[in-house]
Order: sequence, then C-alpha cells, then structure tokens
Amino acid sequence: MRLTGLRSYMTRDRDRPRVIVALDTDAGITGWGECYNHGPDRALPPLLDYLFGQIADEDPRRIERILLKLLQLQRFPPGALGLAAISAIDHALWDISAKALDVPVYQLLGGSVRDRVRVYLGVYSAPEPEEVRDFCKVQHEAHGFTAFKLSPFRADIHAEPWGRVLKATGDWVEVLHAICPEFEFAYDAHAKLFEPWQAAQLGNVLAPHHPLFYEEPMRPENIEAWGALKAQLSVPLATGESLYSRFEFLRLLQAGGADIVQPDICVVGGLLEMRKIAALAEAFYVPVAPHNPMGPLATAVNLHFAAACPNFKILEYRLPHGAAYNGDGMQPDDGGTRYVKDPYLPVDGHLQLRPDRPGWGVEIDEDYLQTDRYVHWERKLPIRPDGSTGYC
Ligand code: LMR
Ligand code: NA
Repeated sequence: MRLTGLRSYMTRDRDRPRVIVALDTDAGITGWGECYNHGPDRALPPLLDYLFGQIADEDPRRIERILLKLLQLQRFPPGALGLAAISAIDHALWDISAKALDVPVYQLLGGSVRDRVRVYLGVYSAPEPEEVRDFCKVQHEAHGFTAFKLSPFRADIHAEPWGRVLKATGDWVEVLHAICPEFEFAYDAHAKLFEPWQAAQLGNVLAPHHPLFYEEPMRPENIEAWGALKAQLSVPLATGESLYSRFEFLRLLQAGGADIVQPDICVVGGLLEMRKIAALAEAFYVPVAPHNPMGPLATAVNLHFAAACPNFKILEYRLPHGAAYNGDGMQPDDGGTRYVKDPYLPVDGHLQLRPDRPGWGVEIDEDYLQTDRYVHWERKLPIRPDGSTGYC
C-alpha cells in the first residue's frame, strides 16, 4: 500500500477553527486525523503539504518509520504547529492501518484493557454553586456524567488582593462540595499564576475537599519547578497539556512534578508519541488523563488510546452539540460541531467501544468539510491595574 495524497480541510469546532486531515492511499482506503488549534491555524495546510512531500509513496502502515522520517528531516525539534500537523498525520496513518485489517485501532495496540472509557465534562468556569449543581444534574441525567472540570478562580487574580482570591475560592468550594456530594470535581487553574507559592496555597485550599485533581496552576516552562510545587501539595497535581514530547514528560516525571499527566494526542505528535509518554508515566506509577478539550475526531482517537492504556484514568470530554460552558460562562448552542456524523457520546458517564467498526469507528462528513468554516480565535489578554498584561 502507498500514500497517494493529503487533503486538509479548514472547519470549525464551535468557536474555534479546526484543521482536519485526510490521507489517501492507492488501496482506496482513507485515514483521518485532527490537528490541535493553537491559533494561527491558516499556517497548518501549507505545513501539512510540505510534510506530505516528505512521506508521499511510503507504506502508511509503517507508522514508526514515517514519524521518524518526519522528525529526522527537520533537524530541530518541531514545536506547536509542526507537532499539531504531525499529530493529524499520525492519526490518519493509524486509521488506514486498522481499516486495512478491518479492525478498530485499539486492536493494533494490544487490544482493549477496558470495556468503556470514563469521561469528565469540561465546564472551564466557576459559576455559582447552585448553577454548577443544576448543570451537573442535567448532564448526569442526560449522559451519566459524574465528574466535571471547573475553574478554581472566583476573583480577578490580576487585580484583587491574593487573600481575597483565596477566600473567594475557599468559600465557594466549601458550598459547592457540600451541595454536590454525588459528583467529583477537578479544578483547572490554566497556567495563570506566576508565583509558585500562590499555586501551592490555592491547591491547599482545595485539598480538604478531595478534588479529582488540581490542574496546571503555574507556567509549564520550568519543568523542574513542578517537583517543588508537588512536594507542598496534598491534592493530586495534574499537568502536561503544554508539553510536547516524551522527553519533556520524562523531565516532569523525574522531577516528581505530577500525580497525573495530561498529554494531548493532537499536540504531542499523535497516538504513537502518546503511547510512549504513557509507558514512561506507568513506570513512575503515574496515570494519564488525556487533555482533550476539542473535537469529536480527537475524542475518537483518544478513545482508542484509552481503551488500550493500562494507566489511563479519565478522559476530558466536550459534548459536540448543545449549549456549553467555556471560560466566559454558558455559551448558546451555535449549531455544534458537525464534521463527525456519529460522534462517541457518553452513556452512564462512559464512551462505549465500537468493536464492529474499523479504524476510529466514526464517519467523517466530507460534504460538510467542503465549506471553509474558518473563525478567528485567539487567547484573551488580561490587563492589570498597572497596565501590564497577564495570562488568561
Ligand atoms: C483544558 O484543559 O481543557 C484547557 O486548558 C483548554 C485550553 O486550552 O483552554
Ligand atoms: Na487545562
């Protein structure tokens, strides 16, 4: 079998642009993959064409060889955009390989170690406790979710005295956990804090309530600083969405910097890299809770990873349709994310494997992809009282 072409499509996942990739073969089999959305997503299609020039005519089932070639032809480690493109190529190669054998991708990974994959729903903000409870109850009734991810911030960290920030979180979390004893909550601090002692104090306010985890409270660049942070915390510390490769995860693990790692299968270079990261983490007795805030194809790829991963813990999930919370609160239903016709939807808080469906087990809507649905997206930039800028 030979790779004959790459097609990329600019589509949309709610309010964010999304690049979806098809790899075609001379056997008539097409594989699909999803790039991470870092912001300058118009840069991805030409980058994908460049990378495809390096692997055209290869046998798509030689996944490790193809990824090695893509890395070796670059000299310097690829960064955010390079790895977002390589991730989608990796996904498509696995999809082709499994479809060629008429099996689900997880069958190529040693088979499934679990029958279904537990998911948590991202809420990404910190609404009033009663609002959180009502939202969780609705989602529990509809899909069986029992775990949710909130923001821990109830005050403006850039403008308010730190003591007020802590007290606002402490008061809120106390009420929230008291009125929602049936649910588990994780808290994503979104790499906003600069000072490690603040990250430690905030985590220790959450700790008495036994959250599922406390995510990425400080900046990711100084990996070794995470070891010192974790040593001050009794709450499980999770991080990894901003890290790129097994080498960075090895540093994090060696520094004792995480109780849970959160690599993103659209960021790190795909399923092959994700498996290597998970194996490293397993040897440190650390579970993997994949970062997955985006689209239904990425969720399908993650499902296969999770199905076959012994140290998988829980998968981040966003419903493809309906109104949803994001960092700005509740957003209306904008028609949803439509490029996957039959997305994996949770039942009883879990995604079911699809043993009779080859590849990723989903059907891509190629007609829908014909329309360019680009939407500009960039991070917000908070302005502090002195006019300087911070992380949002
Ligand atoms: C998440 O963990 O889902 C978020 O950090 C995603 C994001 O980039 O805002
Ligand atoms: Na996050």
